[in-house]
Amino acid sequence: MGKLATKVALITGAASGIGRASALKFADEGGAIMCADLDDEGAARTAAMIQQEGGKAASLGLDVTSAGATIAALESTVSEFGGLQIMFNNAGVGGGDLDWDTIINVNLKGVAEALQYGAPFLAEHGGGAIINTSSIAGLVGLVGAPPAEDDDIGLELQPGAGAYVASKHGVAGLTKQYAIAFGAMGVRVNAISPGYIETPMTAEMRDTPEGEEFLIALHPMGRLGQPEEIAAVAAFLASDEASFVNGIVMPVDGGYTAR
Ligand SMILES: NC(=O)c1ccc[n+]([C@@H]2O[C@H](COP(=O)([O-])OP(=O)(O)OC[C@H]3O[C@@H](n4cnc5c(N)ncnc54)[C@H](O)[C@@H]3O)[C@@H](O)[C@H]2O)c1
Repeated sequence: MGKLATKVALITGAASGIGRASALKFADEGGAIMCADLDDEGAARTAAMIQQEGGKAASLGLDVTSAGATIAALESTVSEFGGLQIMFNNAGVGGGDLDWDTIINVNLKGVAEALQYGAPFLAEHGGGAIINTSSIAGLVGLVGAPPAEDDDIGLELQPGAGAYVASKHGVAGLTKQYAIAFGAMGVRVNAISPGYIETPMTAEMRDTPEGEEFLIALHPMGRLGQPEEIAAVAAFLASDEASFVNGIVMPVDGGYTAR
């Protein structure tokens, strides 16, 4: 029997990358999955992939910056599957050229509202586990490749980098606060801090051989991560095997933050 048999999970950012890999992994472990994403068609494709393998899944369109939509997603999941034990608050945007408000709204406010409404909801429905996606940028600052000749500034100085780092440090803090607040109510809250993972979010940075080599060199294992390597840790944290794990912000980064 899979480690998530009998569990129901709501996963945000499930249309792509880490969220899709996690939806597939959680379903493979026996869970019923509500795949949620701003990209509702992508979320539906993830659900269809699970169903094709004989798993249980449904999907919905969700903008994590809308508190009302988050509450509706929690209720829809219970209507669909009869319960809810796992929330994986994973949706996010990269730093890049995005402005402060967009990055903070999606990456930090989105997680804050998922916790504000989701933690008591899980407690009222018999307890469970919440996993948030932070980042190595939730533990340390980002370093960037030297700017290309036609770029004015390197990544470190881009406003989007500061906003991304602030948002992911915020997710780490929220994780600890909610772990303390809800641990005694049967809800464990943990976060994962991925290193650079090969998903659409990092595609542009990996676009040139120099860009990819720079990123690889940041990881002592000498390679980038795969979304399945984050999904495996998320499945563990979501499962009863992690029954005494609460309030951690766990690097899954090939050693990036070890030095
Ligand atoms: N890829 C990496 O190297 C890396 C490293 C550290 C942390 N992360 C974090 O992992 C998470 C997943 O990223 P990924 O690499 O799989 O990227 P991705 O771009 O492949 O997937 C992100 C998903 O989030 C969805 N999304 C964006 N805004 C949304 C919103 N407002 N409401 C609902 N869904 C929304 C997108 O539609 C997309 O499907 C993010 O929180 C990201 O910050 C990624």
